[in-house]
Amino acid sequence: MHNSSATLPVILTGDRTTEPLHLGHYVGSLKNRVALQTTHRQYLLLADTQALTDNGRVRANVLEIATDYLAVGINPNETTICLQSHLPALAELTLLYMNFVTVARLERNPTIKDEIQARGFGRDIPAGFLCYPVAQAADITDFKATIVPVGEDQAPLIEQTNEVVRRINRQAGVDVLPEAHALIPRVGRLPGIDGKAKMSKSQDNAIPLSATADEIREAVRRMFTDPNHIKASDPGRVEGNVVFTYLDAFDEDRIAVEDLKARYTRGGLGDSIVKKRLEDVLQAFLAPIRDSLRALARDPGYVLQVVKCGTARAREMTDAFARCSRCA
Ligand code: TRP
Repeated sequence: MHNSSATLPVILTGDRTTEPLHLGHYVGSLKNRVALQTTHRQYLLLADTQALTDNGRVRANVLEIATDYLAVGINPNETTICLQSHLPALAELTLLYMNFVTVARLERNPTIKDEIQARGFGRDIPAGFLCYPVAQAADITDFKATIVPVGEDQAPLIEQTNEVVRRINRQAGVDVLPEAHALIPRVGRLPGIDGKAKMSKSQDNAIPLSATADEIREAVRRMFTDPNHIKASDPGRVEGNVVFTYLDAFDEDRIAVEDLKARYTRGGLGDSIVKKRLEDVLQAFLAPIRDSLRALARDPGYVLQVVKCGTARAREMTDAFARCSRCA
């Protein structure tokens, strides 16, 4: 595979190193990454620099997220995992790209708009935060990536990246950069267990990949369903019912899920039965991941060594690696 890998389409995606990964990350992107790593040249960026625009334990989470990648099945022989802060070329490119983006356009980016709201910045927006879409455009284009597996919330960032790409190509008079395509899964965004749009540790509505059996049981028990479905005999609503959204995302038996939905809608199916099914599905899904996380936690040296942005393979791909401070 390695001999022909130069011709494979390139994937670049990544995660802010702010919180350990959870089921929302799995559905939004990790699942695609595991599936595509053999047929694409894949790079994963531990986005610790972007994490500085957020809050959280940036440094400790670099190790945690690298561990999460390996536990869900990212194979370091197939995927190159790299650390954003160790690639100075990304910062340099960001500075250059700043000239191709206006503040007004950044403020109109729907993801940025939501985040400004959620954080209550008002007009006191940190400049580094406002400009992180520019940095993300640098990440994507420096690797010449054409495919970016991300959750739905990241789509406006890829759109903005492509605007920068088109501006630069126009300015250069030739297509120096390829446009990127956001790869968004069927269930593009997994809601939190409380039904809120976004799963996040800080909202206390997330199921982390490391969840214990008890935590999984408790999370499913607390999960938001249809508030008007009081008696089992009442007709229930499937849309907006988190339990069904999760079944759609994780239950491989689509026919059984459709059958449950029909019975729930008609009336006569209690929440506890649907929840029991989901709990079984999630327990079976997370048990092997949790075991891998435990095993990897005993060998942090191995995990850090895997974050090897200076490998020959990576270096031949992009000169971003040539001056990686980690590999010098
Ligand atoms: N914005 C992504 C997140 O919040 C992280 C990220 C940084 C990223 N650079 C990227 C995603 C490039 C896709 C492509 O987790």
